[in-house]
Amino acid sequence: MDIIDPGVSDYLLSHCTPADDLLRELAAETREAFPSSAGMQISHDEGELLTMLVRLTGARQAVEVGVFTGYSSVCIARGLPADGRLLACDVSDEWTSIARRYWERAGLTDRIDLRIAPAIETLRALPAEPYIDFAFVDADKVGYPLYYEELVPRLRPGGLIVLDNVLRAGRVLDPACEDEADVAMRRMNETVVADDRVDSVMLPVRDGVTLARRR
Ligand SMILES: C[S@@+](CC[C@H](N)C(=O)[O-])C[C@H]1O[C@@H](n2cnc3c(N)ncnc32)[C@H](O)[C@@H]1O
Repeated sequence: MDIIDPGVSDYLLSHCTPADDLLRELAAETREAFPSSAGMQISHDEGELLTMLVRLTGARQAVEVGVFTGYSSVCIARGLPADGRLLACDVSDEWTSIARRYWERAGLTDRIDLRIAPAIETLRALPAEPYIDFAFVDADKVGYPLYYEELVPRLRPGGLIVLDNVLRAGRVLDPACEDEADVAMRRMNETVVADDRVDSVMLPVRDGVTLARRR
């Protein structure tokens, strides 16, 4: 299912603040180096949305689950103030080696703390108090419910958690889709909407993006 008409999708892409040279080169290098995985990268309009949300929430402490080659982390870190911090979680040294190069070029290295380990281990080791202002989850889909349960109690009131791929190309609407990741995402979406710790809205941006704000 196309969540949005492809023509509208192109129009949206061409009517947001354009990618700069660094982001364009990162996208091109990712496509060249990892052609079969490059589709995992967020689109540029989603990246602009992340930067804007980080700025609008005034976030200083951010967490990202799922770095890949770093497009979303550049967009998040650029929205932070100079003394802000992004904790970036991934399991791949190979993919994040590209991310590290672009963080360096973007002057963001001092703002980003990369942890190579299963994200659930990194998140469980974080301080328990509510200090996180902004979190973005875009990793293994079956892990989302676990990441959500570690992140929401650590969000400060007014803090935002953003979940990517919540529509799974429309498969969450079809109970006949029983792929493990689709089932996990369907459950995730039910959990968020019933969670009285947050206010939430699901946006038809790309593959679906949920914003949940801690009450
Ligand atoms: C969809 S990609 C992230 C794309 C990225 N947000 C971007 O804009 O390019 C998913 C990433 O999650 C990572 N990942 C998968 N399982 C993970 C886990 N258990 N813990 C941490 N990261 C994981 C993968 O290595 C991959 O880099």
